[in-house]
Amino acid sequence: MAAIFENPPQSGSNYEPLGAAELVDHDGRTLRLKAGSTIVEISALAPDLFRVGAFPDGSPPRYDSEAIVKQDWGPAEVSMERSGGRITLSTSAVAAHVSLDPLRISFVDASGRALAADDEELGMGFSRRPDADVFTQPLGPAPRLYKRREEGERYFGCGERTSGLEKTGSYQIFWNVDPPLGHTASFNNLYTSIPFSLSMTSGRAHGLLFDNPGRVEFDLALEDEGRAYYGAEGGNLVYYVFCGPTPRDVLDRYTELTGRTPMPPLWSLGNQQCRYSYMDEAEVREIARGFREQDIPCDVIYLDIHYMDGYRVFTWNDERFPDPDKLTSDLWEEGFRVVTIVDPGVKVDEDYPVYTEGRERDLFCKTRENEEFHNVVWPGMCAFPDFTNPETREWWGENHRALIDRGVAGIWCDMNEPALFVPHGATMPGDAVHPGGPDGEARRHAQVHNAYGSLMARSVREGLLRLRPNERPFVITRAGYAGLQRHALQWTGDNTSWWEHLWMSMPQLQNLGLSGVAWTGVDVGGFWGDTNAELLARFTEFGAFQPFWRNHSALGTRRQEPWAFGEPYTSVCRKMLKLRQRLLPYLYSLFEECHRTGAPILRPLLFEYPEDETTYTADDEFLLGDALLVAPITRPGIEHRHVYLPRGCWYHYWTGERFDGPAHILVHAPLGEPPLYLRANTAVPMGPDASHTGESVDPLTLLLHPTEGAGESSLYEDAGDGFGYEDGEYSRRTLSCEESAGSVTVRVGAREGSFVPQRQQLRLEVRGFGSAPESVAANGEGVESSYDEVAGILALPLGETGDAITVEILR
Ligand code: GLC
Repeated sequence: MAAIFENPPQSGSNYEPLGAAELVDHDGRTLRLKAGSTIVEISALAPDLFRVGAFPDGSPPRYDSEAIVKQDWGPAEVSMERSGGRITLSTSAVAAHVSLDPLRISFVDASGRALAADDEELGMGFSRRPDADVFTQPLGPAPRLYKRREEGERYFGCGERTSGLEKTGSYQIFWNVDPPLGHTASFNNLYTSIPFSLSMTSGRAHGLLFDNPGRVEFDLALEDEGRAYYGAEGGNLVYYVFCGPTPRDVLDRYTELTGRTPMPPLWSLGNQQCRYSYMDEAEVREIARGFREQDIPCDVIYLDIHYMDGYRVFTWNDERFPDPDKLTSDLWEEGFRVVTIVDPGVKVDEDYPVYTEGRERDLFCKTRENEEFHNVVWPGMCAFPDFTNPETREWWGENHRALIDRGVAGIWCDMNEPALFVPHGATMPGDAVHPGGPDGEARRHAQVHNAYGSLMARSVREGLLRLRPNERPFVITRAGYAGLQRHALQWTGDNTSWWEHLWMSMPQLQNLGLSGVAWTGVDVGGFWGDTNAELLARFTEFGAFQPFWRNHSALGTRRQEPWAFGEPYTSVCRKMLKLRQRLLPYLYSLFEECHRTGAPILRPLLFEYPEDETTYTADDEFLLGDALLVAPITRPGIEHRHVYLPRGCWYHYWTGERFDGPAHILVHAPLGEPPLYLRANTAVPMGPDASHTGESVDPLTLLLHPTEGAGESSLYEDAGDGFGYEDGEYSRRTLSCEESAGSVTVRVGAREGSFVPQRQQLRLEVRGFGSAPESVAANGEGVESSYDEVAGILALPLGETGDAITVEILR
C-alpha cells in the first residue's frame, strides 16, 4: 500500500497549484470562488477562526467530519471588501486576504501579525494520479497545502509524538498503527492521529487543523525551511486556522470546534491497577486486598482479555470468572470499580450471537470483492464492525449491556487502529470497504482509517450513556483522530519498561495536550519487558501527576504492583500515590477548566509562558495546571537534575526553599522527592488521606505559599458523577492570595452554584512562616490558628458555610 500511496512531501509529480480564481458567490461569512474546476470556500466561523475548503471537479463542498462537533457558528460580524485582484474577509480580530490570480490566501490579525499565509509559489491544489487504478480512484486527487513559514515561526502539537516538544524541521506522518513489540522515540506515527500544528511566532500562537482522516503528512519546514506542507493521499482539502494569539486561545477555539473533554467521574482520577492479565477472580481479589493491606490508595482494577470466553467480546469466561456480579459488588464494597477491555475484532464463529447478528445485519467491513473482511486478532479469525455506520455504532453500544449488567464501571477500547495480526503489525488494507457511512455511502478504508478508533470510542460512550443515562461514561481508547477527546481518554499504548520511555512520556502527553487531548496517561512502570525497583519508583513519581494514572504491564513480565519490590520502593510508591490522592480536588478543578476551555491539564511550560522561548524546548518538565511544576528524574542512579523555572516565584514542595524565575537550577531529588514546585500565592486545594475516592471528604486544605505579589486559582466541586452540574449543581470558589509589606490577605470567594459539599471542614495551610505571625483574623475577627515552628506552617480552620472569607495575616 505504501508504494501506491507514496506522496512525497514537496516535490511530487503531477502537482498543480490552483491558478486564477473568480468570485462566484458570497454570503455573510463565506466567499465562494472557482479556480478552474475547483470550488474554494473561505469562511469566517468566529472572529479568530477561519475555514478553507477546496473541492475539485465540481464535487459539492462538505465539512462533515468525525473531527468536527460544531457546525453551526451563529451570526457573524464579517465584512467583505474587494479591490482589484484582491478580496478581504474581515472579522473584528483577523482579516483573510485572498489574491485571485493566482489564488493565494493569507491572514493578518489586528496587531499586523501575518499568519498561515499560502506559499506564493505553491499555494494549494491537488496532485493527480496518472493511473486510473480502481484502488486509488475512490480517493480522488491528493490535496496539498503549502504555507509560508514566518520569520522565527516554530511548530508544535501534532498529537502523540514521543520525540520532544518542538516539531520545526520535521516530517510528520498521520496514520494510526500498532507497532508490534513497541516503539522508540525515532518512531513517527503511533496509535492516534491529530493533524494539527500549533505555531509560535515571537511568542504568539496560531494553529492549523488539516481535516482529513486518511493518511496525512506534514513537512514542517524540513525540506524547505521557508515553508510548511500539509497533504493527504486523497479526500478533502479542508483546513481550519485558529488565530490565537495565545496558545490558550487556540486550544479554546480548537476544542470548541472539535469537542471538549467531558467531565470525568471523580473515581476515575484515582489510582488504577492493571495487568495483562489478572487471570481469575482469586487473583483480582488478592490484588484488591494487597492495596488495602499496603495502605496504598486505589480506585480501579482492570480485567484484560482473559476475562472473556476465548477472547470473544461481550462474553465472560465461566471458569476464571464464575460470578462477575458478586466479584464486582464485593469489590465495590471495598471501594474498587472494575473496568474491562473490549477489542473491535469479533470472532468468526457460527455459535457466537455477536458475530451472527453482526453478519445478518450487515454491520461488518467488507473486502473490495464484497466479502466480509477477515483477519486474525486475539480470538483467531475475526470480522470488524464498520463503525462509520450509525447502526453499527448503536448495536455495538447496546452489546455493552453484557458488561454493564455485571457491574462493570468503564470500558477500555483497545486494538482499534484497527490492529491485525496477519501480517504482524498490520492494519486494515486501504481497499477494504466500509459499506455504511452516515449518508449510506460506502467508503474505502484508506479514506477513513484514522477515524476508526474514534468512531469505536464514540459508539461506546454513546452506548454507555443510553445504558446508564445518569452516570458519566468512563471510556479509554488507544486509537483515535482529532476530536477523540470528546469520546474517551487516551492512554498511549504499549510503552516499554525503559528509562527512555519514562522520559518520552513527558513530551508525548504534552504534545497531546497541545492537540486538544488533555485526558491522557501512559502505562506506569512500562508495559513491555521487566521493570525494576528504581524505575517503577521513579515512574510512579512521574505518574502521580498524569491526568490518567494506571500501572499496567504485559503478559509474562515481572510483577509491578506498587509493593512488588519491597522497601524502600513500596514506601516511595505509597507516598506518591497518597500525594496523588490528596491532589484530587486540585486535579478535578483542572478537569473542569479543561472541560470548559480546552486548557490542557498536564501542560507544557510554553502554554503558560509563551513569551519565554526557553520553555519551547523544556520537554522533560511540565506544569500540572498553573500552580505546580514537575520535573521528574528519568535516569537510573541519579539524584540531581537541571530544572528550568519560568518567571515568578516558586517554592520547592518538599523543602520549602524559594526560587525566583526565570532561572536554571540544579536540584537534589532523592528517591521519594521528585522535583516539585509550588507557585507562590496560588492555592492548591488538597483532600484528606484516603484509600479511594469514595472514602473521606474532610478536611479540604487550601495549601498556599504567600510571597510579595498576588495570585489566583479556583476550587471546583460537584457530585463527582452524573450531570447535575449542567443544571447549576456545582460549587466554584475563587481563591486569591496577596502579600504586601508583610501583610497576607487570602480570599476564598463565596460559593457559586447550588452544590453543597458534604464536607464539614475547610482549612488553610500557609507555608513559609519563619516565626509565628503577629495576628490572624478571618472576616475581621481573631481566629484560632496553630503554628508549626519546625515546618514554618500556619494552619487555621475556615468553616464551611459557603460564604466569602477574607483572612488577614500579619507576619
Ligand atoms: C494490547 C494493549 C495492551 C493489552 C494487550 C492485551 O497490546 O495495548 O494494553 O494489555 O493488548 O489485551
